[in-house]
Amino acid sequence: MNEPEWESRWRAGNTPWDTGAPAPTLSTLLAADDVPAGRVLVPGCGAGHDVLAFAQAGRTALGLEVAASAIERFRSLREVAGLSEDAAYVRLADYFSFEPAQPFDVIWDYTFLCAIDPQQRAAWAQRASELLRPGGELITLIFPVIEPPGTLGPGPHEGPPYPLDPYAVRELVAPWFAERSLEPATHSHPKRAGREWVGRWERR
Ligand SMILES: C[S@@+](CC[C@H](N)C(=O)[O-])C[C@H]1O[C@@H](n2cnc3c(N)ncnc32)[C@H](O)[C@@H]1O
Repeated sequence: MNEPEWESRWRAGNTPWDTGAPAPTLSTLLAADDVPAGRVLVPGCGAGHDVLAFAQAGRTALGLEVAASAIERFRSLREVAGLSEDAAYVRLADYFSFEPAQPFDVIWDYTFLCAIDPQQRAAWAQRASELLRPGGELITLIFPVIEPPGTLGPGPHEGPPYPLDPYAVRELVAPWFAERSLEPATHSHPKRAGREWVGRWERR
């Protein structure tokens, strides 16, 4: 979908991907202090539940969104949460062309990779490598996972979301990232249980 299509989905409230809360996997990682320190980028953050979760854990996170209406929603949630612009911010920008002042320490991707056209996936991985400092971490909460993993064929699929094969994500990031772990998620939204994997990748 292009930018105007995302915007019209947000304006119409047609956002079935939005669970209204941070990803349980992220909440678990933050509670265990298992996310590297530093500046976090959250591409395609939607209403920004995960951006707010980072801020509430005392982390500095920047969300990126192409849909202005998603950002409006984020701002009202931020106000309800009593957080300032300095603590949590979402910028109207395209992940593929956004130019940050400095590289990030962490990228958190949840339901962004599955939302873009599958033909953009290689560019998504390369862009992640450009936006992270060497040694930085790309954390991908991979959803929805094709079942069973490892069987993804090239066949057509109506999306978004475009289902993902965790092993294909491994191949996508391999040119720039070393694998830290790739495994099924143990904490998911009930409606997503069994269809999420966590991949953690270190920028070489
Ligand atoms: C499926 S939604 C997921 C939102 C959020 N991550 C969540 O879990 O609720 C994907 C989001 O990515 C945004 N988006 C799509 N292409 C983008 C791009 N190139 N750069 C930044 N955001 C983009 C859309 O506007 C949409 O809000």
